[in-house]
This record gives sequence, C-alpha cells and structure tokens, in this order.
Amino acid sequence: MHFPDSRPRRPITQALRDSVLEDLPELAQIGHQQLRERCIEAWAYALAESAFERISDLPGEANPGMFRLKRGNQAAHLRGVTRIALAIADDFAGEFPEADIDRDLVIAGGLLHDVGKCWEFDPANRARWTGDPSQTGSPSLRHPVYGAHICLTVGLPEEIAHIALGHSYEGEHLIRSLECLIVQRADHLWWSIAGGCGLLTPENDAILAGRKITPRALRG
Ligand SMILES: [Fe+2]
Repeated sequence: MHFPDSRPRRPITQALRDSVLEDLPELAQIGHQQLRERCIEAWAYALAESAFERISDLPGEANPGMFRLKRGNQAAHLRGVTRIALAIADDFAGEFPEADIDRDLVIAGGLLHDVGKCWEFDPANRARWTGDPSQTGSPSLRHPVYGAHICLTVGLPEEIAHIALGHSYEGEHLIRSLECLIVQRADHLWWSIAGGCGLLTPENDAILAGRKITPRALRG
C-alpha cells in the first residue's frame, strides 16, 4: 500500500503559477477571472504533486509509450489542441450565431484536458505501477481520471472536470457536453495530423495505419 509523503509533494509557489502562464499563454484568453485563476491553480497543484518542474518538462506523448513527438513537449500539444478547438467554436459561432458554445469552457477545457498527465507520466508512479501491477494496477488511474480529480480539488466547475474525464476513452461511457465534444475531436485530430505530418516517432505507425494515415517525410 502506498501512502503519499505529504500533500502536495512540494509547495505551490507564485513562481510555479507564473511558469504555467508562461507555458500556456492562451490562459490569458479566458475571460472569466476566477476560471482563469483556478485553471492556473489546477496545473500548479498537479505539477506540485509530481516530479515535473513545469508543463514544458512533460514529454510530448499522447499516453506513455504511445504517439511520441520527435520534437516538442506537452505544452505544444495543449496549445495546439486549444487553438484548434477554439477555431472550431469560433467558426460555428460566426456562421451560426444561434449556436450556443461557451468559449471560456473551450479554452479552459483545451488547456486543462491533459492536466492528469503529471500523474500518469510521473517516473516514481510509473516505477511503482510496473513493479507489481497486480497490486497497483498499471496505471492505477489514467490521466483523464486523475485530471478530473485535480479539477474538482482546486474548485473548478464540473464542466471542466467533465472535459478532463471525457476527452479520451473514459468519455465513451458518457454523453459528452458540446465543449467536451469539441475538445475531444480537436485532441484526436491533433495526434492524427501530427502523425500524418511525420512528426511522431515510428513505434506507433501501425496505429496510424489503422486510421488510414501514413506519415509523410519531413523537410530536409
Ligand atoms: Fe491531449
């Protein structure tokens, strides 16, 4: 049985919060002040509970061992998904003003959907899980579940916890909110297009092939 030494593992400092905003500048586009502040708090808390110093230290992978970027880190993924999700939302809202899409939820959900990766990619957690999966499960919790836990712990609205939980396979058991649907499709699209551009290492080419995607050679 594993009891954490303390909660959080290290202090949540203003420097840590500042690093979150530096790595995810799109946070500034969230209009609702409390939502924006709690998004920063969620990432700061998740990082403080992990071995990662800042978001840009998280590897650019979809899941541990699946879809690894040849270059770039998790911040590139989070920012890209958020911009794509926002483009989807703004395009529909522009063409169909009667469509009721919450822009703040799309931005916050895009930037927070993978907050649980601090847990799932943490080296100490991974060592524990691979040591005896019969004891812990492997992983004990996937990043969508841990991400929802983080969102609720820092007092984010359930709509954001729902996006963290529902953006991946776990969402197949739910009816997704509209904003969760937009983030989920943007997330899936991001990895597929990264694969098509040849930006991913080749271990998972078979998964891309299953999606009828073949990587193009990079320039140079
Ligand atoms: Fe993602």
